[in-house]
Amino acid sequence: MRLKNRVALLTAAAGAGIGQATARAMAKEGAQVIITDAHEDRVLDVAGDIKDLYGIETLGLKCDVTDRAEVERAVHAALEKFGHIDILVNNAGTNRPSQVADMTDDMWDIVINTSLRGTFYCSRAVMPAMMKQNYGRIVTITSVAGFMGLKAGHAHYAAAKAGAMAFTRCLAMEAAPYHITANTIAPSFIYNEFIPHIYPEDEIERMYENIPYPRKGTPQDVANTAVFLVSEEGEYITGQTICVTGGSWMR
Ligand SMILES: NC(=O)c1ccc[n+]([C@@H]2O[C@H](COP(=O)([O-])OP(=O)(O)OC[C@H]3O[C@@H](n4cnc5c(N)ncnc54)[C@H](O)[C@@H]3O)[C@@H](O)[C@H]2O)c1
Repeated sequence: MRLKNRVALLTAAAGAGIGQATARAMAKEGAQVIITDAHEDRVLDVAGDIKDLYGIETLGLKCDVTDRAEVERAVHAALEKFGHIDILVNNAGTNRPSQVADMTDDMWDIVINTSLRGTFYCSRAVMPAMMKQNYGRIVTITSVAGFMGLKAGHAHYAAAKAGAMAFTRCLAMEAAPYHITANTIAPSFIYNEFIPHIYPEDEIERMYENIPYPRKGTPQDVANTAVFLVSEEGEYITGQTICVTGGSWMR
């Protein structure tokens, strides 16, 4: 119960991947969780399921992180119900693979706005409450794409993730005097059932080939790292990007 009495707000937490796994891992450690996602129906199902399973209070809210008003409404509703938000997990991210020569403005906007603008909107919205309570943990899910040159149409995605890392370093500097930490987790390929809708089969196989550790990375691997960063044991780590890659990216 490392997160007992903590309240965690997570974005994009009603899908099949890292967001929901992290919400469950935090609830298992005693945190009360606010499940937000652009997908309205699923947030209620996931919040209800976690509440029943772990016996903690939850809240399910529709929140598209690219919509400033929805982000502000979600944070307001969370504060109304719980009185405090101790943990923010900026998990929302999306990709529309395309070579730069073919990339449309819409592709650029949705990818940048989800990972980068969304991280800014959510972090800005929780900061006043965290500063007032003199405590907070912000974790943003980025990607090793933020470090690497990639040829499979990830230029906008890589730029968004690198931007979120840079944003986090500056946020960490501003937040530190208030005992607020801000870090990112950069996974490499983490499989879930929706991945084949985003990437072609040969790209998925290529991503596996580049991972030295002899198993597939799972959403739980990233969730475990997030729990550590937001726990008391992670207190002195801030401004960092922790890579969860099975060795496919080493710094
Ligand atoms: N899966 C991977 O291989 C991988 C690798 C590196 C980084 N990441 C990053 O990890 C994060 C989680 O990805 P995942 O693949 O584990 O899926 P996930 O299940 O955690 O997230 C998918 C969910 O995101 C929601 N979503 C999409 N756009 C949104 C928006 N604008 N606002 C709110 N919710 C939105 C969807 O409704 C869906 O429920 C993303 O930021 C992704 O870029 C994933």
